[in-house]
Amino acid sequence: MSSVFGQYLRLSLFGQSHGPAVGLTMDGLPAGMLIDTEALALALSRRAPGRSPLSTARQETDEVEFLSGVLNGRTTGQPICAVIRSAGMHSQDYGQGVDVLRPSHADYTGHVRYFGFEDWRGGGSFSGRLTAPLVTCGALCAQWLEARGVRIWAHIARLGDCRDEDIAAVEDTDRLAVLKRKQLPVLSGAAEQAMEAAILTARADGDSVGGVIACRVDGVPAGLGAPFFDSVESVLSHLLFSVPAVKGVSFGAGFDLAALRGSQANDAFVIRDGQIRTETNRAGGINGGITNGMPILVQCAFRPTPSIAKAQRTVSLKDMRETETEIHGRHDPCILPRAAVVVEAMCAIGLMELWKEREACLKA
Ligand SMILES: Cc1cc2nc3c(=O)[nH]c(=O)nc-3n(C[C@H](O)[C@H](O)[C@H](O)COP(=O)(O)O)c2cc1C
Repeated sequence: MSSVFGQYLRLSLFGQSHGPAVGLTMDGLPAGMLIDTEALALALSRRAPGRSPLSTARQETDEVEFLSGVLNGRTTGQPICAVIRSAGMHSQDYGQGVDVLRPSHADYTGHVRYFGFEDWRGGGSFSGRLTAPLVTCGALCAQWLEARGVRIWAHIARLGDCRDEDIAAVEDTDRLAVLKRKQLPVLSGAAEQAMEAAILTARADGDSVGGVIACRVDGVPAGLGAPFFDSVESVLSHLLFSVPAVKGVSFGAGFDLAALRGSQANDAFVIRDGQIRTETNRAGGINGGITNGMPILVQCAFRPTPSIAKAQRTVSLKDMRETETEIHGRHDPCILPRAAVVVEAMCAIGLMELWKEREACLKA
């Protein structure tokens, strides 16, 4: 299993859904950084389940315990090891060993890939639970980036058929800051109500819904990214596709660019306050895999939660016969309310890695 990311920021992830803890080790933060514990706690609470009827009833407090790398609230410059202990697991919800394969989960693929030795309980290492240490790492990286003028905001751009305002068009950044304190991180009040209704209807139907998280990153200077293979798009999409349930990633106008002519798609260069900028931002702040100084715009499509209470066709592995399953237990009818902070975290991790790569080039 590849659970290690980065060359300049070395992150290693560990844990399973029903293990005693999930956590990370992380190398690359400088010595002496004062950890903003309030921002860290806020980030983790945005990801935590059990907060509202829109989320699973599984209760997790998600408190970070630093085992190394932090002393008196500041980083020591040595590797950070952090754990988030788990509580409230109900393994009996899942029976004994992998048998009846849950459709669109990793039960079958994980079983084949790990020769039957995988921790199958509650999705094991494939669980959304692993996003708790990712959010921890992301919150630390975001703090490092904030000290350099970078701000990251994500919202639910689309949920089922309901669409929010365009986050790229928002000029008043106080409106973006509010997103981090909302159960449904949505800009428009009408869209928020429609999305909430869609989630509650799906839950009542024993079903689930998916959608799109859009993320905007302001304050990234021109010049980050290491094409070919470590272009900004490559690094961010590599991280974002690692998040369970992500099935699509696009930048700027994304797939819509395919239907445009060059004259409609190009972003004209202009000078604003003595700086080179682009008049529009259909490229999402990236040209040739390198940031151009405009906000980075990235969208992430999340599938509907695979666990649903409706009867579904599947296979019993032990009997090697077709059967049916209904998944009962505590599940999110929609992953998106908890996923915005995860997308922000992955963008922070990727951008800190690329920032440090650029710094290393300057020193060389
Ligand atoms: C924050 C978060 C929470 C999740 N919660 C659930 C859940 O409650 N039930 C579920 O079936 N899937 C949940 N998932 C998604 C599954 O883990 C994921 O769909 C599954 O492992 C299969 O992976 P894939 O969709 O990437 O193919 C969650 C994902 C994230 C990011």
